[in-house]
Amino acid sequence: MLEIDDVHASRGGAPVLSGVSLTVASGEIVAVVGRNGMGKSTLMMALMGLAPVTAGSISFLGRGITGRKPHEIARAGIGYVPEGRGIFHDLSVMENLLLTVPGGKRGRAAAALVQDRFPLLRERSSAPAGSLSGGQQQVLAIARALAPTPKLLVIDEFSDGVQPNLVREIADSLVALSAEGTSVLLVEQNATLALEISDRAYILEKGEIVASGISAELARDEGLLTRHLVI
Ligand SMILES: Nc1ncnc2c1ncn2[C@@H]1O[C@H](COP(=O)(O)OP(=O)(O)O)[C@@H](O)[C@H]1O
Ligand SMILES: [Mg+2]
Repeated sequence: MLEIDDVHASRGGAPVLSGVSLTVASGEIVAVVGRNGMGKSTLMMALMGLAPVTAGSISFLGRGITGRKPHEIARAGIGYVPEGRGIFHDLSVMENLLLTVPGGKRGRAAAALVQDRFPLLRERSSAPAGSLSGGQQQVLAIARALAPTPKLLVIDEFSDGVQPNLVREIADSLVALSAEGTSVLLVEQNATLALEISDRAYILEKGEIVASGISAELARDEGLLTRHLVI
């Protein structure tokens, strides 16, 4: 459903990605792992139209989305949870959820529905989002990306700054989501976690894919992991 083909992309005017190709199939969880500064976030931003793609192409559900505006890419059916979450602290939990759905009754229903998946958000619906813990804010960021029912969820470092019990809960909900047919593309420095929950993975180093394959097989290759990852 997603094809990234030989993408070159830059950040702040400097080239970061030099020819990255990856695919995500329907209902699959795909991980991109790699150490800090290797270009993982830049790759997600290039996909979402937030970093300039200087060469190569990206297509989603058979349509070219290279160079499209972020809102057009979102409307095509990709939900995005950025690194650092992008939560508005002064808005309530519900107001944050309403940001990604159309105004009116249908939008409110979609925001209410996504709270069913994450009951803690229902309990704190009218609380300021800034009063949630880091992990709860991560859950909110995921719920907000899911409210418009995307076909692909893109999530950057979901375990960062999240307490272990919530990391587990979020991981389980991503697996459940993929079982329901929503694809997930996730980026993680925590390779052990990412390889555990994904079907396939790519290792990114200095803007290039240096290895890829079935996650369970990569996880068994200790030499590969110590060469390229923080374990
Ligand atoms: N705002 C920015 N402007 C310029 N360069 C940046 C910016 N943010 C990150 N970079 C550089 O881009 C490279 C890749 O960063 P990033 O994609 O954030 O890596 P990762 O997500 O794997 O940690 C790094 O060398 C980093 O220093
Ligand atoms: Mg990053």
